[in-house]
Amino acid sequence: MCGIIGFTGYLNSADVLLQGLSELEYRGYDSAGIACFTENGVELIKEVGKVAALKAKVPSDFHSTCGIGHTRWATHGGVSEVNAHPHKFGKVTLIHNGIIENYHELEKELALTGRYPVSQTDTEIAAMLLDSLYEGDAHETIKKAVERLEGAYAFLIMFEDQPEVIYSIRKGSPLVACQSEQGSVIASDMVALLRFSKDYFVLPEYQIAKLTKTSITVTDLDGELVAPEILSVTWDTTAAQKNGFKHYMKKEIFEQPEAILRTISPRIHKNLCADGHEQLLPDFSADEIDDSVFTGVNRIIVTACGTAMHAGLMGKVLFERLLRIPVTVDIASEFRYQNPILDENTLVITVSQSGETADTLAALRLARTAGARTLSIVNVKGSSIARESDYVFYTHAGPEIAVASTKAYTAQLSAFYMIAFRFALVREKITKEECSEYMHLLLDTIPAIEEVLKQTENIKKISKRLVDSENLFFIGRGMDSALACEGSIKLKEITYIHSEAYAAGELKHGTLSLITEKVPVIALATQSDVLSKMVSNMKEVRARGAMVICVTTEDATIESNIYDEKIVIPTTADIFAPFAAAVVLQLIAYYTSVARGLDVDQPRNLAKSVTVE
Ligand code: AGP
Repeated sequence: MCGIIGFTGYLNSADVLLQGLSELEYRGYDSAGIACFTENGVELIKEVGKVAALKAKVPSDFHSTCGIGHTRWATHGGVSEVNAHPHKFGKVTLIHNGIIENYHELEKELALTGRYPVSQTDTEIAAMLLDSLYEGDAHETIKKAVERLEGAYAFLIMFEDQPEVIYSIRKGSPLVACQSEQGSVIASDMVALLRFSKDYFVLPEYQIAKLTKTSITVTDLDGELVAPEILSVTWDTTAAQKNGFKHYMKKEIFEQPEAILRTISPRIHKNLCADGHEQLLPDFSADEIDDSVFTGVNRIIVTACGTAMHAGLMGKVLFERLLRIPVTVDIASEFRYQNPILDENTLVITVSQSGETADTLAALRLARTAGARTLSIVNVKGSSIARESDYVFYTHAGPEIAVASTKAYTAQLSAFYMIAFRFALVREKITKEECSEYMHLLLDTIPAIEEVLKQTENIKKISKRLVDSENLFFIGRGMDSALACEGSIKLKEITYIHSEAYAAGELKHGTLSLITEKVPVIALATQSDVLSKMVSNMKEVRARGAMVICVTTEDATIESNIYDEKIVIPTTADIFAPFAAAVVLQLIAYYTSVARGLDVDQPRNLAKSVTVE
């Protein structure tokens, strides 16, 4: 999952590329590079580290009006300048997002033509293949090359003898493009196009885009012209900026009330009752999600990765309580190789903030092939997962830049809750009145989150007690057990502290042996029906020396001698507690990472969208 951008037009391409790479850097930041047409032909500048390091290497008099740029998340080949993209071989210069799976076979074949790579990357092999096929016809060359390539790719290609022109083709990895008065731009995602246009198109798979200063033409592999659908973004550049916050993650944590409201409110149908009461019902007609999607379903499978999968864990508890239908939550990278049991009465829900996660996309394709109904919960309009699902429930969290997902998670929760309520209404598991009560409580999660956001100083102070930890546990029961998984990944990915999420009742069956005075425990106790059991579990871990941070509701009765710190959230019906409790855990992770002096928004080894398998 790298960030790639190409520009050809009337501006200094190095400036455009470096700015675009800064905006795409959250997609990968091991190394970066640009290649531009200059009076000396195609010139490359590459550097290990972040875009800022590359920027410092570009001479101030470096002038060009056409080029391609890449910020890398290393897959094949370590982090080094030679492995940084772009890769130039013969007449071909190439950048790539994805993985070429048969690059070894191709490398051997190309060696027979006297072509040998200097890097350890699969991308350079692709450049060598293109060069071996190129006789002046770019379209024919690309067509022949992709017939030989296996795996996922988004390529931006320049041919030495075609100055000011960029070619592109993709399979699996994302690419969007727009044409403007300043020139033609193509990139991994919209955030790098916004300065040029709010109107864009997704480059369809296996179709070749040719970018010149004044136009972008798209043709299929047979050379037939294609007119991709033009989409428009509803958010502006400030939505993708920090707006005064020190980190994107903190900004996005604070955006959650509005992100949830934007996701819920367009799907509320209001009826004013005779007694003046406002009846709120979930309404998906604007999403073109018909009630028939929910009839006849006898099994639900949620498949996703990471935080999106954790939202599915919460959805499972809710669906099974309200619908009494069996729900399984499968990690997408497992689901796709399990030969899952699916039929037309199975509803497969895929969840993805980016809509481009390779494993989740593959799981979706498998589900569709097997004849299951597919509904996706996605945050990026027009993304691959959205376009390939039978039905899409878009979250409206806005662009999420920090690698650690926060507002997308709570927006995904609100999607699951609304789907569960509509599903239960359609199957007459709840009445309209009960449904309306649930909808009112769902809206009440917004002020509850706002209350938590007023506690940042207290949470920051408590987080300081975790700064020197090496191991830590999150424990909970029921919905809190699902939430513990999310708290754990949030902490791990930005603080590098090893943590585990554990069903509280299961600890005593082995893992309790790991609890010592050096192992803090964050105990989630928001579910009143199991509160007394959670109190026992807190006593168990505290008796073994753990420092216990308890997250619970205002009116929960817990003796003060069984925890070291307590963070309270507004009391609500149990099933709605995860919204505010999730924000507490996000803030704990955030402040602990800041206290440890780490890169909160771009943690080591990670990237925002995992578009490789
Ligand atoms: C979450 O904080 C992580 N960045 C990661 O687990 C992420 O949720 C996962 O890669 C799924 O991404 P997606 O929602 O874009 O599919």
